[in-house]
Amino acid sequence: MADRQPIMAGNWKMHHTHLEAIQVVQKLSYQLDESDYDACEVVVCPAFTALRSVQTVLEADRIPIGLGAQDVHWKDQGAFTGEVSPPMLAKLNVQYVIVGHSERRQLFGESDETVNLKLKAVLAHGMSPIVCVGETLEEREDGRTDMRVSGQTQAAFAKVKGEDALRCVVAYEPIWAIGTGRNATPEDANATITVIRETLRELYKGDAGEIRIQYGGSVKPGNIADLMAMPEIDGALVGGASLDPVDFSRVIKFRA
Ligand code: PGA
Repeated sequence: MADRQPIMAGNWKMHHTHLEAIQVVQKLSYQLDESDYDACEVVVCPAFTALRSVQTVLEADRIPIGLGAQDVHWKDQGAFTGEVSPPMLAKLNVQYVIVGHSERRQLFGESDETVNLKLKAVLAHGMSPIVCVGETLEEREDGRTDMRVSGQTQAAFAKVKGEDALRCVVAYEPIWAIGTGRNATPEDANATITVIRETLRELYKGDAGEIRIQYGGSVKPGNIADLMAMPEIDGALVGGASLDPVDFSRVIKFRA
């Protein structure tokens, strides 16, 4: 890997009430020490209802874990019942926002266009998007993986300037590997991430080498070390294995 600081982000999805989230983040912090935080950036992405509670714990106990949200609307305010705006998140000191997760794309009608609008809105409010791209099983079997992820990457970054792109994280998440226990081989993940980086290089030249690209999809304590051994993999977006603080800490401590 180049000089890119690895980033391990836990995507809690629709799990953990605010009370459970407080406990999980506290227990996670008991498992981690300074050397872990030096070695990689750690982020948790609770449900909206737990953001304020987790923020309070992180700040009160000075825990160096970043706070992330799982989605956002692109407008600052308005008649959008049920939505949450970028300023609402920024005021909670949210640093990262997952944008375009495949579950949002597949189950909630998220399109390449809305992903781009959200990515720009997150950046405009001083936060960093974790933008997800990834192919379906059918696309992989048809040999369309590279085209798919590169198209999604181009669409997500449309009209985003180089200096802003540097603040983004990309998560390569093959859809067939999410929550299925089937993960991409480290070599396959590395190859597709290389395609994503080449796409970023077409857009941002040398700056593309600084953008962090995670792998996501059934990451576990048992497979993280092999994934992180790949030169292009800069961390992981972890679903199931991030719900338990001990499991997630073992992913974070993959070197040990
Ligand atoms: P998983 O989820 O680790 O449970 O496969 C990953 C994700 O959806 O971000």
